[in-house]
Amino acid sequence: MSLENYWQGLLLLKQTIADTSEAVRFCFINFGDTCEVYLNRLPVPDPQKSLVLVIVDQDADIQHHKATSFLLDNTVLVLDYEYQLDEEVIDFLATYMPYCFLPLQARKRQRAVAITHFAQSLDGKIATSQGDSKWIGNDDNLIHAHRMRALCSSILIGSHTLNYDHPSLTVRLVEGSNPRRVVLCSTESDFSSLQSGSDNPVLVIGSGDDPCLKNTEYVQLAADKDGKVACTDILKLLFEKGLYTVYVEGGSATTSSFLAQKSIDVLQLHIAPLIFGSGLDSFTLPEISSVSDAVEFDRFYFKPVGDTFMFVGEMHHD
Ligand SMILES: NC(=O)c1ccc[n+]([C@@H]2O[C@H](COP(=O)([O-])OP(=O)(O)OC[C@H]3O[C@@H](n4cnc5c(N)ncnc54)[C@H](OP(=O)(O)O)[C@@H]3O)[C@@H](O)[C@H]2O)c1
Repeated sequence: MSLENYWQGLLLLKQTIADTSEAVRFCFINFGDTCEVYLNRLPVPDPQKSLVLVIVDQDADIQHHKATSFLLDNTVLVLDYEYQLDEEVIDFLATYMPYCFLPLQARKRQRAVAITHFAQSLDGKIATSQGDSKWIGNDDNLIHAHRMRALCSSILIGSHTLNYDHPSLTVRLVEGSNPRRVVLCSTESDFSSLQSGSDNPVLVIGSGDDPCLKNTEYVQLAADKDGKVACTDILKLLFEKGLYTVYVEGGSATTSSFLAQKSIDVLQLHIAPLIFGSGLDSFTLPEISSVSDAVEFDRFYFKPVGDTFMFVGEMHHD
């Protein structure tokens, strides 16, 4: 069975979890030419397929023999439940499957769950001083980002990234549907790159009056004295719109404001073998005087991505 079969299963799983109103205690996924998802019940045995179990509720009375505890609070991912999965498949599922369960966390927290991703240099830069950031990451990183877009229900950027990069923010390198595109913006910006690729209008969030842009839905939220909208309000708004997960793709000001307001749940940093020596820092946060005041992670791992690697860290906020 190819990774493509497993990817199809993950897309089905993502949709099933997002759509269910059941309290999910455990879940079996049967991966094969066709995939099945069984919520809170035992699977129909099929020797041609690879069975994976995910235990969401630790009190669920389910026997298992091989477990990888992973991101997302106490969710246990039981890979290789019955049949021998090869290492590439285990790595693939361990990387992407946990994100399919994030809607459950979103319902618990009554806000969208936020994952952020950057491709940065060794010295922590995501763009040159002129704003150039193409292409810091390698091809595998691009595929990763498109997989994440397909697993998330929305993707969010700040207005400078829109104006510098003219991204389309769609899923093109893998199979999957496009997330709802969201831009934080209160100044005149060029939305032309977002005009095609999805029937859903771009969601623009700002603090000013409705700029009445073509093919957009505008939501005005209250701002602080610097014109910044509270990121918790943004996550609540997305949740109310049925957008349970958001992939925050930068830039620095946007991600930093989410991070500073404890509104990032998972951070993914792709590290490129480059040194800029100048340019735009990945994060700009209020100054700290002690190392003990630095942002820390509940859990983290480093994962090879092509010829380099990615840091993935989980943060827990109540
Ligand atoms: N290497 C990478 O992975 C990567 C990824 C993305 C971007 N980039 C690069 O990053 C650069 C842009 O980053 P940047 O830091 O200059 O800008 P940015 O984060 O893209 O955009 C900042 C703008 O977004 C809006 N915004 C952000 N947070 C907000 C909040 N809490 N409330 C209200 N509005 C908010 C504001 O728009 P208004 O001013 O309109 O109010 C703000 O000025 C580009 O060069 C891009 O190429 C690199």
